[in-house]
Amino acid sequence: MERFLFVDSSLNFGEDMAGDVGLIFGEVGHRDFNFLLNDNSEVSKGAYVKVNHETYDWVLCQITSIKISNELYSLSTMKYEREVKDTERRIATAKIIGFVDEKGILRSPKIPFKPGQKVYSADSKLIKSSLGLKGKGDGIYLGLLEGHRGTPVFLNPNKLFQKHVSVLAKTGAGKSYTVGVLIEELLEKGIPTLIIDPHGEYASLKQANINTRELEQMERFRITPKGYDNISEFTPYLDINPNADRKFVLDFTKLSPRDLIEALPTKIPSSQKAILFESIKIARGYGSYSIEDLIHIVQENESRSKWNLITNLESLRDSKIFDGTPTKIEDLIQDGRVSIINLKGTQPEIQGLIVMSVSTALFEARKRGELVPFLLLVEEAHNFCPERGLSKSISSKILRTIASEGRKFGMGLCVVSQRPARIDKNVLSQCNTQLILKVTNPNDLRAISQSIEGFSSDLEDEIKLLLPGVALIVGEVVEQPIIVNIRVKRSQHGGGSIDMVREPQSRVIVTEPRVKSLIQRLFFR
Ligand SMILES: Nc1ncnc2c1ncn2[C@@H]1O[C@H](COP(=O)(O)OP(=O)(O)OP(=O)(O)O)[C@@H](O)[C@H]1O
Ligand SMILES: [Mg+2]
Repeated sequence: MERFLFVDSSLNFGEDMAGDVGLIFGEVGHRDFNFLLNDNSEVSKGAYVKVNHETYDWVLCQITSIKISNELYSLSTMKYEREVKDTERRIATAKIIGFVDEKGILRSPKIPFKPGQKVYSADSKLIKSSLGLKGKGDGIYLGLLEGHRGTPVFLNPNKLFQKHVSVLAKTGAGKSYTVGVLIEELLEKGIPTLIIDPHGEYASLKQANINTRELEQMERFRITPKGYDNISEFTPYLDINPNADRKFVLDFTKLSPRDLIEALPTKIPSSQKAILFESIKIARGYGSYSIEDLIHIVQENESRSKWNLITNLESLRDSKIFDGTPTKIEDLIQDGRVSIINLKGTQPEIQGLIVMSVSTALFEARKRGELVPFLLLVEEAHNFCPERGLSKSISSKILRTIASEGRKFGMGLCVVSQRPARIDKNVLSQCNTQLILKVTNPNDLRAISQSIEGFSSDLEDEIKLLLPGVALIVGEVVEQPIIVNIRVKRSQHGGGSIDMVREPQSRVIVTEPRVKSLIQRLFFR
């Protein structure tokens, strides 16, 4: 089996620091140890360090805290005007990550280090081999490793997407931006993807990044601006999203009577359900039929309770999502292409109906082996598979099924949400990799920790303090949780906030003499 997190050896992001950074002292345990930092060492919290063990060779460790003390300033001896420098000490605590054994497996040392041993800055090679950050070529390049910024982070696309992934963070922390980075990598690798895009944020991947602040950072991440053209944007409403490539049309005849009942704007009683079942049976007798045909058939029914059903069907018809030639799933999933269903301006219930219909058709087709393996990415996933009891969506059931069975059929799922506590727990816990940016809401933090095996309170504290654009990666795709500075995007970002206070509109300067005098007469007389 290929390593799942690796670094393209052709990319060299910086020099490793040479020399020792400190000396181990006091009692040394199996999990962590303290060491005295050299005066000139510049390591900080989160930095990777290494210690040579007489049995295991080099062991990778990571600094978890640094404390500064000064005997002159201990409470018992403290006096004001003394020289500070000589007795100031910096004490670091480091956790032991482990060493790689002859089979390439990361192991914890069973015999502790000895006090007096030197601690060194870890080199890229040791970090890569210990964290599984190694391999050749075709990984998903996310950014630079926090604690050793010379190390780029590449993730194995198979491990990442086949076993599902979640991207979770509070609003504005950088979820959609990180997802944009992921999609750029999917486009680079030609992995077919369908994006459910409720806000119309992802078509901007077609344009190269022109953001000056981001362009300045590109060299650091070793990337260049680029727009992607292997993207197809669909939307139910071309009038709202005129730049989309094609209208998205749902196939009315593919809706089961049960789906149709759920999709109606209001709940209908069993008498109306009976009329609907009967009418669909008649319609199916004619072969192909439209929603208009079905409404006509219902109108022919003699029961008086048909009128409410007709009103419901008419309002579904007026959504116009069945108008036109139905979009084929083969148009949505194509080798080497990313498709976007831009749902901006679409009613929430209709969004759910589209997600349910498309996901079901794709899952069934994948089961029959009719489509290439692909990834389904769902933004604002809390709306499409909400936690039971909190809200309902017609698409919940199929997304739960894909989360639990998609892997077997080569259908990956990526769920993105600002409210982890509001996503179906079953879906969340089926994601084997989590990309978590800053989260502060206690309910969301609880939902995250409950959905990840072995999630420690240290990680919870870490998540609360993350800066925008910095992600904690946990799960099967990494040997150990790592923190990554997500790289800037090659293409433009379509999300982001809109300023509430806008720049004043630029004034129109009129130079034409006759217009000028007219304005003078009208307004300044
Ligand atoms: N890795 C990054 N590099 C540079 N800028 C970033 C990065 N991540 C986020 N940003 C900046 O932060 C802003 C907000 O990010 P983003 O749109 O991804 O937020 P979000 O978490 O999706 O928010 P929401 O929940 O409101 O959709 C972006 O417009 C971008 O300017
Ligand atoms: Mg977003």
